[in-house]
Amino acid sequence: MTASISDILLHWYDRNARILPWRNPPGEPLPQDAAWPYSVWLSEVMLQQTTVAAVKPYFAKFTTKWPTVFDLAAANEGDVMAAWAGLGYYSRARNLVKCAAEVAARGGFPETEEELRELPGLGAYTAAAIAAIAFGQRAVVVDANVERVVARLFAIEEPLPAARKAIRVRAEEITPQLRSGDFAQGLMDLGSQICTGKSPRCLLCPLSEQCAGRRTGEPERLPVKPPQKAKPERRGTAYWIERDSGVTREVWLVTRPGQGMLGGMRALPDDGWTARMDGTGHPPVKGDAQDCGAVHHTFTHAHLTLKVVRIASYDQPSGKGEWWPIERIEEAGFPTLFAKVARLACNQS
Ligand code: ADE
Repeated sequence: MTASISDILLHWYDRNARILPWRNPPGEPLPQDAAWPYSVWLSEVMLQQTTVAAVKPYFAKFTTKWPTVFDLAAANEGDVMAAWAGLGYYSRARNLVKCAAEVAARGGFPETEEELRELPGLGAYTAAAIAAIAFGQRAVVVDANVERVVARLFAIEEPLPAARKAIRVRAEEITPQLRSGDFAQGLMDLGSQICTGKSPRCLLCPLSEQCAGRRTGEPERLPVKPPQKAKPERRGTAYWIERDSGVTREVWLVTRPGQGMLGGMRALPDDGWTARMDGTGHPPVKGDAQDCGAVHHTFTHAHLTLKVVRIASYDQPSGKGEWWPIERIEEAGFPTLFAKVARLACNQS
């Protein structure tokens, strides 16, 4: 009898699994303590944002500050947003607290994919990942790495996003009844280490004999991506408004409105580029203005060039905000865009 794709992959995973802080070693019984589903959930939400390497310090920070889902449920939302700063998609941080509160109210995480789906902000991917990885339920887990591996294994030529249907059908076919969490993580590890986007290392791949994509001679073409839309260019100005309180130098910070770009995050005031997208507003205070240059930042939907203007002021700027000691600016929890602005402004002081 020939070995199935899942047998081969699990065998490979047993020998090659990456050791990760949120991961149970392959094949070991699942931990039974309440901290286990919490760490799977937290890591999976974070891993939707960015790479394993980037997630590690955030995972360590969160699990130190909030060791259980009950601690996170009771956390101050602003503190969680600040701890999330730099990971992007800030609405996820707000959903994280909401979801933790719901889980705490229920007394713990539910174990099935269907019930997990009912938790606030928890999508199809995360529900399947938690059910399979944390609770050992059979679930079909498809993230971008799995998508790539499966599209290649079966030489699915249809372009994304339409190909997702066929990819899912194939993923469903090859997912085993037992160890579907290890199987999913095996596909993820294979996707990130061997079946990589641009130059897959087919000679090292345990599934090379089974791979129809390899037989096409150009597995790196798959999955076929849709044509990239050009991102619009946005412009605006951010203001670094500084005063000397007599004790320390301080900068004026605002909290962005809850809805919209970088909602709920601490930031520097700006001229409204996000609202009107043309940045024609005015600084919230008068004073000596000095041009510090500009920072460039790319969001999912746009490129932004944000001019940075420093203003030395003794007046209280208009609108809501707070004076923040410049020597503690690292603790403000800025999103990446404003961390770049702060670096530029501070380098010129
Ligand atoms: N990406 C998303 N979830 C992951 C996991 N559990 N292991 C490795 N990479 C991942």
